[in-house]
Amino acid sequence: MINIADAPIGVFDSGVGGLTVAREIMRQIPNERIVYFGDTARVPYGSKSRETITRFSKQIVRFLKTYDVKTIVVACNTASAYALDTLEKEIDIPIIGVVKPGAKVASDATRNGKIGVIGTEATIGSQIYTQYIKEINPEATIYGKACPLFCPLVEEGLWQDPVTDEIARRYLSELIDIDIDTLILGCTHYPLIHSTVAKIMGEGVTLVNPAYETARELKEMLEKNNLLQTTPPALGSNQYQFFVSDGAEKFKHFANSIIQYGILSAKTINIEEY
Ligand code: DGL
Repeated sequence: MINIADAPIGVFDSGVGGLTVAREIMRQIPNERIVYFGDTARVPYGSKSRETITRFSKQIVRFLKTYDVKTIVVACNTASAYALDTLEKEIDIPIIGVVKPGAKVASDATRNGKIGVIGTEATIGSQIYTQYIKEINPEATIYGKACPLFCPLVEEGLWQDPVTDEIARRYLSELIDIDIDTLILGCTHYPLIHSTVAKIMGEGVTLVNPAYETARELKEMLEKNNLLQTTPPALGSNQYQFFVSDGAEKFKHFANSIIQYGILSAKTINIEEY
């Protein structure tokens, strides 16, 4: 008999950034198999329209479903902001994004009710974090700031670099002036420059990485639906599979710098076929 808990979890992002979410899932639910797709040919999503992001996301969901995934995690903040609603309506398996979990943690963490959100232009423009935080805490004030240069800096490996420090200081100074006490890292790449942002924001500001809460809620959801994998995968089985729409070698290199499992291969597929 086929046990549906044996099926993999589909995780997707516009590129490499979603690996920070995949990494957290690997840590919190280590028995699970993962099929990851990074849309490296069409990144960034952060400067694209709702229609385009939704179309891309639908194609990726169709691709992931060819692996009979039991659930899908939209690891990209921008796709969670613009496409999750539509995907939820069209899909017959559970699907979760990263925005709601991040909003929940920030709402719980703030003491003075002033919450900052940093992300792509699209995520900040969507006001999605504001909407979710207000549902939980109507009194909160949310300040959004798009930080479009952070993604390329992270992808260039400048995680701890004077250039990144300087750009971060410019982006974040207005949030410091407003006296926020909580800051959501509302983009997949930003956890990789956590220490830079923490240094600039200072000790009084709690940084929220939505990936942690997303993985926690994913585990809870799998448990509730009897979908949690309780036994470790067989030795030598392909527990983690990675697919991209372009540049598999570059992806593999980046992935190996943030995931400790030794990613041996990433495969390029033509996502336009889905
Ligand atoms: N993964 C995207 C996000 O979390 C950032 C990169 C992009 O713009 O596509 O919003």
